[in-house]
Amino acid sequence: MNFQLKTFEEYKAAYRRSVEDPEGFWGEVAEHFHWYRPWKSVLEWEFDTPDVKWFNGGKTNITYNCLDRHLDTRGDQVAILWEPNNPQGEAIRLTYRQLYHEVCRTANALKSLGVGKGDRICFYMPMVPELTIGLLACARIGAVHSVVFAGFSAQSLADRINDSACKLVICSDYNARGAKNIPVKQVVDDALAMGCPSIEKVMVLRHTGEKVNWDNNLDVWWHDVVSGQPAACPPAEMDAEDLLFILYTSGSTGKPKGVVHTVGGYMVFAAYTFLNVFQYQEGDVFWCNADVGWITGHSYIVYGPLLSGATSLMFEGVPTYPDAGRFWEVCEKHRVNIFYTAPTAIRALMAMGDEWAEGHDLSSLRVLGSVGEPINAEAWHWYHEKIGRKNCPIVDTWWQTETGGILISPLAGLTPLKPNYASLPLPGVQPCLIDANGQEIEGDGVEGMLCMKFPWPGILRSTYGDHERCRQTYFETFPGKYFTGDGARRDEDGYYRIIGRADDVIKVSGHRIGTAEVENAINEHDLVVESAVVAFPHNIKGQGIYAYIITDKPVTDFPKFEREVLATVARIIGPIAKPDVIQVVPGLPKTRSGKIMRRILRKVAEGDTSNLGDTSTLLNPEVVAEIIAGARR
Ligand code: WTA
Repeated sequence: MNFQLKTFEEYKAAYRRSVEDPEGFWGEVAEHFHWYRPWKSVLEWEFDTPDVKWFNGGKTNITYNCLDRHLDTRGDQVAILWEPNNPQGEAIRLTYRQLYHEVCRTANALKSLGVGKGDRICFYMPMVPELTIGLLACARIGAVHSVVFAGFSAQSLADRINDSACKLVICSDYNARGAKNIPVKQVVDDALAMGCPSIEKVMVLRHTGEKVNWDNNLDVWWHDVVSGQPAACPPAEMDAEDLLFILYTSGSTGKPKGVVHTVGGYMVFAAYTFLNVFQYQEGDVFWCNADVGWITGHSYIVYGPLLSGATSLMFEGVPTYPDAGRFWEVCEKHRVNIFYTAPTAIRALMAMGDEWAEGHDLSSLRVLGSVGEPINAEAWHWYHEKIGRKNCPIVDTWWQTETGGILISPLAGLTPLKPNYASLPLPGVQPCLIDANGQEIEGDGVEGMLCMKFPWPGILRSTYGDHERCRQTYFETFPGKYFTGDGARRDEDGYYRIIGRADDVIKVSGHRIGTAEVENAINEHDLVVESAVVAFPHNIKGQGIYAYIITDKPVTDFPKFEREVLATVARIIGPIAKPDVIQVVPGLPKTRSGKIMRRILRKVAEGDTSNLGDTSTLLNPEVVAEIIAGARR
């Protein structure tokens, strides 16, 4: 697709054009894709309701664009290159033609189970080729996928299944991760036992081969329903604004919400950002090592690369198994050209010493990427020197589940780099900074809340089943603008530096976790009366979770209490949300209106109590000294 920009000048020209004539700009990009019927309008939008439609009236199928379209030109090229958890295991190479046949068979299998257009299908799977195949099989027939990260608990899985009334859940017997095999089918069984009335079948991939409980009325084996299906399946002609997928993510309040992405705009944006940010060249091996359970995996393992005819490496394992050289061993083994990971992984590997990277031939690497949280200067330089050997640009890509694709990032090799800066907006992206009064801050050397003034094709369309929540969360704070939840700074070159969340969302090892969710989980423990959760800076994870807890009886055995609280959080949300620090407190600092003063709790958690600001307006100023005295960091 020849919308790849080749120089910084071309980027600047494209950016100008995209602002002056967004419809002309995106209309031309979209023409590179296959449409059964052209759109009637490129863009219709307003940010009040909100109501955003891209390529409205157009008909397409994203899998036609990921698969069928490539068969003549690159049918025998590897589409998915799978590296197993076990380093002795065999890599799998699926060509575009093989992937096409597998997707068609699986789509036919889904149909045979009664799945049709618009039905929601939940995935709770390891990082195996069948996950990608399954997602594409849904998209082939117009079913909507909802992937739940396989580290979430049965309760979280049940909540997500029920929120969007999924008809089918697809899982494996066990997941292989590091030295452990994790019984995922059991988690699905547990979730269903909690009550998931919409589920008609559970489709189970035999992966590790371990024994699982089986319900003949409910459970079907993947291989039983898929093998024997015809290897062709006509793509459903989808409206550009039909749902493609739902992906649950955490916000500052309440339960996770199902972010809704639609077919046409997401397709155009995923491919446009992939080709431009990473500057993928024909024949490159691209490795994004996020999990498909997060948006990064959706857009840059599955859709962006396949739409672009790329070879996408999918890795089942973890960075430190069997040792801290695993990533670099895989890069060497598969001659990876573009490598995309999270700062937390970089920091963890950096802490284990340079020797793990030094022994490997990393000369194939050309571009390095970072995503999910701010990358600190130390990690940036280590990545640049020890992994990139000073030859590879680092693209620090800023975006969100809600944005569908990358919004602010250097274009590899084109944009001059500054460590710590996500740098410049992609064409079509119009950021602005807003002050506390809702006024746009002009000029440079300024800081504010990061908002978007204009829609881009990958913007979320709704939150599933609750459009009003979408309006309140993203479009109400600053009327007429999309509010990202992040704070940012803009320098004299117009470069953006992301400061971090301005709301009650924590990024722990790049995972997005709402403080309210963690508090609700902690409060389930019998002894707990109330809790407050804040983030603190963590050397490896970026942010850690600090929980202040009020109990109704004195805690006599603290280690036991701590273990129980952690187990409660793991049971209700999942191990990724377990607090790093727990402190039992006599009270929480509250304003006269009963609001918890989190500012004070954050300061204590950061270990900086020199300037707590004005505490005289508190209802209970006396607790502050007690909290400081009992601080556990
Ligand atoms: C944070 C992940 C700084 C940010 C794709 C955002 C980043 C949230 C960066 C979205 C980056 C993501 N620099 N912060 N390059 N990328 N973030 O939905 O706070 O899991 O709002 O999407 O991650 O997290 P999400």
